[in-house]
Amino acid sequence: MNPLNTTVTSRLGGILLAVMASGYLLIGPISVAAETTGNRAINNPPATILVTGANRGIGLALARYFHQHGFSVIATARKPNEALQLKAIGVETLQLDITDPASIAALKSGLTGRPIDILLNNAGIKGHSATALDDLDIEQLKTTFDVNSLGALRVIQALMPNLRIGAQKTVVNMSSRMGSIADNTGGAVGYRASKGALNNFNKSLSIEFSEQGFVFVVLHPGWVRTDMTSDRATYSTDDSAKALFELITELSQGDNGRFYDLHGESIAW
Ligand SMILES: NC(=O)c1ccc[n+]([C@@H]2O[C@H](COP(=O)([O-])OP(=O)(O)OC[C@H]3O[C@@H](n4cnc5c(N)ncnc54)[C@H](OP(=O)(O)O)[C@@H]3O)[C@@H](O)[C@H]2O)c1
Repeated sequence: MNPLNTTVTSRLGGILLAVMASGYLLIGPISVAAETTGNRAINNPPATILVTGANRGIGLALARYFHQHGFSVIATARKPNEALQLKAIGVETLQLDITDPASIAALKSGLTGRPIDILLNNAGIKGHSATALDDLDIEQLKTTFDVNSLGALRVIQALMPNLRIGAQKTVVNMSSRMGSIADNTGGAVGYRASKGALNNFNKSLSIEFSEQGFVFVVLHPGWVRTDMTSDRATYSTDDSAKALFELITELSQGDNGRFYDLHGESIAW
């Protein structure tokens, strides 16, 4: 990510321009689908992004923002029937529990043959909140790792065929500054370790798939006001989603394996 890049030079910039050329008129943060000539929209289909945990919080805001900007959004939720805010956006919504192998298999099977340009592994939990050694509950820590570390890995494994046939081959894993060892100021032992493990999975995959043109990044969305945090947090979900959108749509090969905050600043491992 180079903040000085224009969208013209970015990998996704081309897609954004293609989206604009295909008849999606971008007006500030809102895009208006406008039919133009013939089937250009079909010849130049919008980029496809799959967002996990999209029924609330940052995932919901990201699904909405990418949709508003002309992306084809596949949003997943554990309980799609209850995801009323997500349904109101009007994007394709699929069931996914990232800890459930049957749910993962159903998603994989339902998406067979469909290109995915960007996979955004957003789903996560705060998990076990104990901080003192004597209070740590191994079974609860397993759950935290199951969601925050292994969950993303399961989705990547399942959707790798879709990513291979996607144009952008970009995987964004929603980490946290709290996954940084350098930034560890204590507390939230399980959450920090689970995001640290996610960071390391991301690094390994960035190396394994580098020569195939993939970009794997871990991002910190800022301290955002959601059910996971508190009203005192810095950013609204919309502000975080806007900054993340600008960052994600500017990613290029040089960003492979990197760890950024929402403004594109590198975070120490
Ligand atoms: N908020 C922050 O300040 C902050 C800071 C740093 C990093 N993050 C990261 O950003 C991501 C989104 O956080 P948020 O604040 O938006 O959290 P949130 O409001 O609590 O939303 C979490 C989302 O993850 C989903 N989820 C949880 N377990 C899941 C599972 N097993 N399978 C599928 N989906 C599951 C939830 O679905 P249900 O509704 O079904 O539970 C929900 O959609 C997380 O990875 C989080 O760690 C957040």
